Amino acid sequence: MIVIKTQEQIVKMRKAGNLAAQLLNYIEPFVQEGVSTQHLNDLCEEFTQKNGAISAPLNYHGFPKSICTSINDVVCHGIPAEEDILKDGDIVNVDVTVILDGYHGDTSRTFMIGDVDEKIKNLVQRAENAMYRGIAAVEPGKYLYEVGKAIEKYIGKFDYSIVQTYGGHGIGKKFHEDPHVLHHFSKDNKIRLREGMIFTVEPMINMGKSYDVVTSSVDGWTVTTVDGSVSAQFEHTILVTSEGTEILTQGVVIIA
Ligand code: MF3
Ligand code: CO
Ligand code: CO
Repeated sequence: MIVIKTQEQIVKMRKAGNLAAQLLNYIEPFVQEGVSTQHLNDLCEEFTQKNGAISAPLNYHGFPKSICTSINDVVCHGIPAEEDILKDGDIVNVDVTVILDGYHGDTSRTFMIGDVDEKIKNLVQRAENAMYRGIAAVEPGKYLYEVGKAIEKYIGKFDYSIVQTYGGHGIGKKFHEDPHVLHHFSKDNKIRLREGMIFTVEPMINMGKSYDVVTSSVDGWTVTTVDGSVSAQFEHTILVTSEGTEILTQGVVIIA
């Protein structure tokens, strides 16, 4: 069942989305060579608490940390750790989700550490473009599969693959709710978009030819590409409006 949000719920989702965006902005300057992903986790946890919110990932189905940090061939759900030190040339997706006044805001970006290989830089930029192409396809009255169609059309130009195992999701009082948003074209997403729906668009793009992923049997969470290729991801939480969309996790750009 897809929840159509009321005006009151939309106001709360805007606040949660904005806080998640501010959290990513806050952490960005710390995402540097020599820093452990545990340190990033701790800073995020502290910022979230100071803003009267809760880190949604912590204890979510047993997830042990406050954010997800996915380095290089880690596709998603990477667990922050003291021993995972960012190094020159790495890429790392930092995925944050806050709960503010009972509502979730979910967003992620892939950051580049120091001197990143040109091919990997391109992958990261195109993963971001893919997310925006998907978001731009959203309009009330259209089908949800337009999102995957637009992403596939764009990503098809490159020798990449789109992860199919994980998708975007409805979000609100619950972290993950209907609909499941596919980032490739599928009739399974023949769902009519309506004003007041809120969901995430979060394509995971693998540099290699395989969209297949594998979950670590050691920690039960870390998802990596099967072929060891690098993977990049960006995520926004969006609201379907009469006009098209409103990105709830865009954040306010403050010009100093
Ligand atoms: N933030 C992720 C998403 O975009 C979900 C992380 S679930 C966790 O849906 F348990 F790994 F934190
Ligand atoms: Co997320
Ligand atoms: Co999400």
